[in-house]
Amino acid sequence: MRALFAVSEVAPWVKTGGLGDVAAALPRALMSAGCGVRVLVPAYPAMMKACGERRALARIDSPGGRFPASTLWEAVLTDGLTLWLLESPECFSREGNPYLDAQGHQWSDNALRFGLLSRVAALLSAPGSPVDWHADVLHCNDWQSALAPAYLRYLHGDEGAASIVTIHNLAFQGIFDATECAPLGLPERALTLDGVEFHGKLSFLKGGLQCCDLVTTVSPTYASEILGPEYGCGLEGLLRYRADRVSGILNGIDTEVWDAARDPALASNYDSHSLDAKAANKLALQKELGLAPDPQRMLFGVVSRLTEQKGLDLLLEIGDALCEEGAQIALLGSGDRAMERGWRDLAARRPGGCAAVIGFDETLAHRIEAGADAFVMPSRFEPCGLNQMYSLRYGTPPVVRRTGGLADTVVDATPQALADGGANGFVFEEASAPALFDALHRAIATFGDPRTWRAIQRAGMRADFSWSGAAARYLEAYRAAVRLRET
Ligand code: ADP
Ligand code: GLC
Repeated sequence: MRALFAVSEVAPWVKTGGLGDVAAALPRALMSAGCGVRVLVPAYPAMMKACGERRALARIDSPGGRFPASTLWEAVLTDGLTLWLLESPECFSREGNPYLDAQGHQWSDNALRFGLLSRVAALLSAPGSPVDWHADVLHCNDWQSALAPAYLRYLHGDEGAASIVTIHNLAFQGIFDATECAPLGLPERALTLDGVEFHGKLSFLKGGLQCCDLVTTVSPTYASEILGPEYGCGLEGLLRYRADRVSGILNGIDTEVWDAARDPALASNYDSHSLDAKAANKLALQKELGLAPDPQRMLFGVVSRLTEQKGLDLLLEIGDALCEEGAQIALLGSGDRAMERGWRDLAARRPGGCAAVIGFDETLAHRIEAGADAFVMPSRFEPCGLNQMYSLRYGTPPVVRRTGGLADTVVDATPQALADGGANGFVFEEASAPALFDALHRAIATFGDPRTWRAIQRAGMRADFSWSGAAARYLEAYRAAVRLRET
């Protein structure tokens, strides 16, 4: 099996969230499972710098549309992973966030930029590809590469590789003015209900979901949630219509990068047999962030994008009350300016009780996962979520809302689950501050009972979240997509 994995970010070089983590780990896991993989990614400056030696594979004049000419480079990393870097100075030679300018607005030419990524992904998966390596499956990820299956249909007569679109987040769809179709080289007949048209506009994601052979998303629960109006973001009708093609495959995590026994970022390494050593990480974190250094005060950790999705406004609402009760909060996050301000204000009002670091800091994220007593994710929706799996693995029980991948990974500490040894965290239902408060209170009460707390920590640390299981499931999906293409 050979797969071309098209994606708009790859950690650690370019990462805005979990997508970058997945793009770094899943292709490697697929390789280990015997799949040939090429990762097609824009040649942002950070990617070019990271790759060192590379060779030019092809000069590409994307037929159709008004795309600038581009160059495809191949770089083979030391562990054997092969990256295909799509170089187009006009589209990708800019520093900073891959999607947003310095003011936090979408780059005005995003349709062209990710249209190019999608166009080249299709070209490389179709007969007549300029490269002599042919994929059986084109695997697209989120809206930035989702237009590729539409190109395969409308410009290559569906002659190319089988195609899969993985939804990492349905809330981002890549919607542009319909007039963008012509410069992107899509024929007028593509702008219809069963093509790329969405409420009179051009939608990259909708086009991909409509034209691909299979749709996957990153957890089984999210796969069923998006079939309904609450989570479907307007695409629930299409997803229901194609429901027999939609499935959920839970993400894994990188168990080498996230290993408390070896993590170089920690003050003290530990595993499930030496959980007492975790306390030194809490003390170090309290000192680092200017929190009162007190082992008895329950310390809640957060590492997150600050957006509506993540529900951290709910935690902010009860932040004062929590601190008054003696709990502490250590938050690392960035995003929505108003929410950033809200968290800075809470930290200023509650010195020693709440610390808010606004920014993106990979190693501090590790120290919070290890140093906090519990980890908070009150997400309104969560396609998978990686942080709850990091925290389970770090013996830092997560407090989460029952949605998406959180529902699939966290087992609430009910009396029953505690009795049968499955409980690994705290789960609440309603996206409201009182419901979250109640779950945090349950966590605080349980924290006061060290034996039960240890059992919950160990249950989380026992679970296997490595990528190998997910890779096997993706391979099955690849085979199914190829079969569908052949029939
Ligand atoms: P999402 O992709 O929706 O943001 P995930 O839980 O899948 O959520 O992945 C988020 C990833 O980004 C995790 O690896 C998390 O540690 C990381 N992350 C998010 N915000 C920050 C931050 N401010 N600093 C460091 N890492 C962050
Ligand atoms: C998205 C989702 C997140 C998921 C990640 C990787 O950013 O918001 O839940 O874990 O993609 O699949």
